[in-house]
Amino acid sequence: MYISDRLKQKDNETFSFEIEKDRDFRILQLTDLHMGFGFLSRKKDRLAMTSIRTLIEETRPHMIVLTGDSTFPFLPKAGTLNNRRQAIKLMEFLDDFEIPYTLVFGNHDCEMGCVCSKRELAELYKKGKYCIFTEGREDLTGVGNFIIELTADSGEVLMPMVMLDSNMYGEGGWFYSGFDRIHDDQVDWCMERLKQLQQKNTDIKAMAFFHMPPAEFKEAYEKMKLGDRSIIYCHGSVGEKDEYFGISRFEGTFFDRAVNNGVIKWIFCGHDHLNTLSLIYKGIQITYGMSIDYLGYKNIHKSHIQRGGTLITRKAGGDVEVRMVPLGPVVSARVRGVK
Ligand SMILES: [Fe+2]
Ligand SMILES: [Fe+2]
Repeated sequence: MYISDRLKQKDNETFSFEIEKDRDFRILQLTDLHMGFGFLSRKKDRLAMTSIRTLIEETRPHMIVLTGDSTFPFLPKAGTLNNRRQAIKLMEFLDDFEIPYTLVFGNHDCEMGCVCSKRELAELYKKGKYCIFTEGREDLTGVGNFIIELTADSGEVLMPMVMLDSNMYGEGGWFYSGFDRIHDDQVDWCMERLKQLQQKNTDIKAMAFFHMPPAEFKEAYEKMKLGDRSIIYCHGSVGEKDEYFGISRFEGTFFDRAVNNGVIKWIFCGHDHLNTLSLIYKGIQITYGMSIDYLGYKNIHKSHIQRGGTLITRKAGGDVEVRMVPLGPVVSARVRGVK
């Protein structure tokens, strides 16, 4: 656990993290690292680590958020099923930057047949020297549902960061059963917690971080293409083949409930490595982080236009700016999108 005067763990599902209210606070979202740390992935892991280092040096974040698939215990590509070693190696690498980081799990962190369960991984991440993590309430679906409250030195909550496990696969529990979603019990918990914060401050605005995109992201994109001007395009594009969104085939309630609740104004996800889109739909800015992956997708080490990070800046005064940070200096109009 990150030990600092600025960080307090209030309970099993809440941290408070003190920031300077009148200065910019920079969060670097990194997603889909797909670190292998096995005998088949050495070269690609080195490329991923170099990319991450470059992005951190360029953006000098106050906090790093990993939105899932940080590790990839997939034998044919990594040459290992040992996600314990992967998590330890990843933490050793990140701890060296001396910047606090936090994470949610993706669908690959705990792949079938791997060494550690999600609960065991949670125990490991809790021990990371600069890691902010807790497994959250045991009775909820998923592991790692928690809130980091960014607070002023007065204790006033400036901006909650909601961290959610979007789970892995649906019925049958494995890849071909389709992707899962954030379950209703997690949604209930999240909305209740946000309502409590809203009672203290009616203007409070929150960010949510999870791995898999909500179905409404795709819906918004399709409506936008058909000319719906209520959707505001922010940046990026949909680079996946056939404009694919890796959404769940199960109906999720998270997005609608977030719209009704009104506190969440920003959602950050990953999962679709070639999608970098960001748009505002029903008052919520939904953003795909630029991804790191060199190992997961076939031949992705040869594709560079999607690779990078996403810089989220809470400005003094409370506005939030979301910006793509491409790794390469040249990014095609296809990825940047054209405003
Ligand atoms: Fe991924
Ligand atoms: Fe994923």
